[in-house]
Amino acid sequence: MFSKFTFTASLASAAALLAGIQGVQCKATSDLARANFWFAFGDSYTTRGFSPSGTVPAPGNPLGNPAYPGKTTTGGTNYIDVLTTELNSSLVLTYDYAVGGATINSTIVAPGHASRSFVTQTNDFLQGAGKKPKSAPWTSENTLFSIWIGINDVGNSYQRSGDRNAFNNVLMDAYFKQVHILAGARNFLFSNVPPVERAPSNRGKSDALRTLEHNTIIDYNNKLADRVAAFQKQYSGVKTWIWHSNGEFETILNNYKTYGFTSITTWGGAGDFWGNNYHPSSKAHTLLAKNIAKVMKGTRWFT
Ligand SMILES: *[C@@H]1O[C@H](CO)[C@@H](O)[C@H](O)[C@H]1NC(C)=O
Ligand SMILES: *[C@@H]1O[C@H](CO)[C@@H](O)[C@H](O)[C@H]1NC(C)=O
Repeated sequence: MFSKFTFTASLASAAALLAGIQGVQCKATSDLARANFWFAFGDSYTTRGFSPSGTVPAPGNPLGNPAYPGKTTTGGTNYIDVLTTELNSSLVLTYDYAVGGATINSTIVAPGHASRSFVTQTNDFLQGAGKKPKSAPWTSENTLFSIWIGINDVGNSYQRSGDRNAFNNVLMDAYFKQVHILAGARNFLFSNVPPVERAPSNRGKSDALRTLEHNTIIDYNNKLADRVAAFQKQYSGVKTWIWHSNGEFETILNNYKTYGFTSITTWGGAGDFWGNNYHPSSKAHTLLAKNIAKVMKGTRWFT
């Protein structure tokens, strides 16, 4: 039986609960207003299975869908997860448009399997968060655009006939065509292509093939650095960073024991650098994230 006292008390607690909910909503709105944003583009090294039409990033759920850490290539957190939630210097809301297998433009180099290229990822952005809906009040100043693409472009094409270094110019033209249409962007993090010729899946290939892939990647990376410098020069309001993933991978692979790994030839084990035969483990991703944070130290996004 309810006494009058209990009834009044529960009314009071209902009111307190309601005020609490409003308080939370109010806080979420003000958190959103002071959030910084990160729009990431790339391939399997970056993807966490985000769907642009699903739950969007918001305070308390900074990467949106799928649930943290997402569907990363080797399970567990990837560098995007770690940077967004652990190495962040502010509330960073991250839209990760990357899709496994992606190339820059799928007409130029077909992806390994049905995938969304950098071209389609850019369109996903432009048609969604790019329009600055209420859920994504980003500005040119508070937003970072990152691009880590090229692994599959080189990987799926280096065995073709013809001048591979000349082909890298074709790739760069397509790459920067997309960069130019990221309307409103001012802050860009470019990541170069890691030495995937050292991935376990490539170990069975001949030295000649691995050397060819290596050299094609180095040329791609040199051209990327030149293009970034030219892009930076062309637009005085633009700020660019380059993360030399290639050098970082080489350093870790050459000194893997120093970095706490037990093997760079096997994969999937606790001490392995590689999470599977082509992708770094979650443990390796944390190191990569720390390295990126170092490159971008003191910015509004990362510590
Ligand atoms: C870093 O991100 C997490 C997750 O969104 C957030 O809870 C935390 O407050 C952020 N750190 C800073 C310093 O803002
Ligand atoms: C992709 O590449 C093809 C072949 O070069 C070109 O015709 C097409 O315009 C490119 N797409 C975009 C969006 O640039």
